[in-house]
Amino acid sequence: MLKLTYHGHSCFELEAGGHRVIVDPFIAGNSHAKIKASDIKVEGVLVSHGHGDHVGDAVEIAKRNRCLVISNFEIANWFGGQGVEAHPMHIGGSHTFPFGRVKLTPAVHGSALPDGTNGGLAAGFLIWMGGKCVYYAGDTGIHSDMALYGRLNPIDLALLPIGDNFTMGVDDAVEAALLCQAKEAMPIHFDTFPVIAADPKEFVRKLESKGGKGRIAGFGETVTV
Ligand code: NI
Ligand code: MN
Repeated sequence: MLKLTYHGHSCFELEAGGHRVIVDPFIAGNSHAKIKASDIKVEGVLVSHGHGDHVGDAVEIAKRNRCLVISNFEIANWFGGQGVEAHPMHIGGSHTFPFGRVKLTPAVHGSALPDGTNGGLAAGFLIWMGGKCVYYAGDTGIHSDMALYGRLNPIDLALLPIGDNFTMGVDDAVEAALLCQAKEAMPIHFDTFPVIAADPKEFVRKLESKGGKGRIAGFGETVTV
């Protein structure tokens, strides 16, 4: 069994079998987050790309928990420079950690770190925990590789950005959910800022009208995958 807790924006925790990780821990600047970074207890922090709304509080959380940051090679090196232990990976590669397996997938997006350091290529993640596979697309436009990754790695739940402007909007996210053949798809990366206002119910309605299945997690809500 896999539990997912959504903290708003693209920040979520996954918990299975006593293992817990957090993805893109944007908490301090995230008005939808109902927790503090200092309350997060995890054994791993996954960072999809270098932008501030994804790196978020990763340094503080990793130091407080004395845990690993998992990201691409360039971002892992940057965390190393902040005194954080990091496991470097890159797109297409997977690795099995004590909590589960992680594979980096392509995301069509930028990845510069907040201080201007080159953050390599933006990524998404396939994460296997508790016998389930979650696909987190990261910040990305729609791309046809989603179909290939979905075919090679059957997906139980896809987390897809719907906020438009910086990423896919609702209509492209609906197509992305169908492309990757996820059993269920959850909208993320919306309403945090006015420019990414979007309606998660519209995503579910449009997806289900095309034969997919949508699922919304409220801010702070824990759902079972
Ligand atoms: Ni971004
Ligand atoms: Mn973002």
